[in-house]
Amino acid sequence: MTGKQPLDLQHFKDLVHERAGLTFDNTREEILRQKVAEVMCQKGLRSRTELFTSLLHDEGAFLDFVNHLTINETYFFREPQYLDLMMSPLVPELLARQKDDEKIKIISAGCSSGEEPYSIAMSLMETYGDDTSRMFSVIGFDINSMALAKAAEGIYGKLSFRGRDEEAIRARYFDQGRYGLIKLKPVIKDLVRFTRFNLLSDEYPELIRGADIIFYRNVSIYFNSSVQRKILTGLAAIMNYGGAVVFSSSETFSHKDIGLLSLVEAKGLFYYRKSDPAEHKKDGLEAPSAKGAAPPSPLLRQPRRGALKKPMKAKTHHASPCVVAAQAGSVKGGIGTPSAQSQTTDDLFWEAVACFRKKEQDRAMLLAEKLKDCPCHRGKAYLLCGCILMNGKRPREAEEQFRKALDVDELDIEAHLLLGLSARNSGENDRAITSFNKAMYVQHSCWMAHYFLAESYLAKGNAKKARGYYDSLLKILENELADEPPLVFFPISFKREDLLHLCRRKLAVIQG
Ligand SMILES: C[S@@+](CC[C@H](N)C(=O)[O-])C[C@H]1O[C@@H](n2cnc3c(N)ncnc32)[C@H](O)[C@@H]1O
Repeated sequence: MTGKQPLDLQHFKDLVHERAGLTFDNTREEILRQKVAEVMCQKGLRSRTELFTSLLHDEGAFLDFVNHLTINETYFFREPQYLDLMMSPLVPELLARQKDDEKIKIISAGCSSGEEPYSIAMSLMETYGDDTSRMFSVIGFDINSMALAKAAEGIYGKLSFRGRDEEAIRARYFDQGRYGLIKLKPVIKDLVRFTRFNLLSDEYPELIRGADIIFYRNVSIYFNSSVQRKILTGLAAIMNYGGAVVFSSSETFSHKDIGLLSLVEAKGLFYYRKSDPAEHKKDGLEAPSAKGAAPPSPLLRQPRRGALKKPMKAKTHHASPCVVAAQAGSVKGGIGTPSAQSQTTDDLFWEAVACFRKKEQDRAMLLAEKLKDCPCHRGKAYLLCGCILMNGKRPREAEEQFRKALDVDELDIEAHLLLGLSARNSGENDRAITSFNKAMYVQHSCWMAHYFLAESYLAKGNAKKARGYYDSLLKILENELADEPPLVFFPISFKREDLLHLCRRKLAVIQG
């Protein structure tokens, strides 16, 4: 506590974090300081203690305070690829297992002023027409009552339409109002219900329970990892089996699986699916959470900040590495228990990498083939074989190896990047874009993914998209947020300054 202000800002930070999940660390601390001052002024309070006491004891006062803190940025048809994912395959799959009289429940969690749930309703309407209200219920919830009031009103300004250009949809479902305002027609407005709900509450209301698809996009960005996990666990609990939780591409997946939620991919997009354990038992299948029985490669779990140089030797941290009998430079032995002469597979792996770098491709290939028997190194062994084949100008065979690496670990960012690079080298920019996009979902701040997406779009002649990715790359580099994925084989690397220069030049050329 200070002399002037009896209560430290930390108390407010802790309270909003604990009750609403919001974090105000580092640069965002100043925002909280200002909001506290603003609210004190509005309420005519003279001390932080007075405000804090009312927030602590009066839930209504707390929620009103939160109204000042959330970021409600949103617009219609934002990241439309996720709406496309909903329309196919998610909804058809759910319809196939739905009983006749049941509606599919689609939730927009953190719906802000309603653009997201209304975009969901419009997408459904486009396909299912008058049957939409019979087949689906669409619900939006948010902690912010002011945003919800705007959502219920259904009147928007131009900024809400800065996403995909949907002229026809706009003409069909909106009326031009006065003062440039655009009014949603009742046919869509009546399809969506709104409610105020805090994602950190323990009790979900009936309206939200039994969800089939939950759009949870651009909400988790200010939550830390443990809050995210708590929320996802809560969402999983209120979902029907077979349901899906959809994220935005700017949200990274620090949790591969959460209980019954497992990360799956369709159309190059990742989402969580709630699997039915009974179904898996019945079919004699492994539960998806156990998919890819090999542990995710530790090489890929420790993104570093700062330098863009490739690490010469990333560290592996297996508790007890597999061992392989390797005598006098041969690799005849099988993988098994340690012996005096045995070499750990870590040693063998780095020997293979060293051979690859010295261009001793035959030996590198031999060692890599051997390592495919080792669960700890199987994924990287496939990548190594793929790189040798790529260098030998055998792109199809190389890509087969990269895909096998993804079967081992679908979040292997190096495999996605290598697949993208190989497709790009073959002039197949669409395929390259899909792979670089996947790399970006695995690690949003991966500068290479942004760079190669920009380059691939430029090659396709789509300067607008290319500019978008150069812009985001520039932001990442300028803010020194560039996480360099720990790559072992990826053949390209830049210095941060060179990349900044290159990026600015490309932007100048595109804009000029
Ligand atoms: C950036 S908007 C995202 C809107 C929309 N989902 C989209 O992607 O365009 C984030 C929303 O999450 C809401 N939010 C933040 N914390 C929340 C919480 N604990 N419970 C419910 N909503 C929350 C905010 O009020 C805000 O409206």
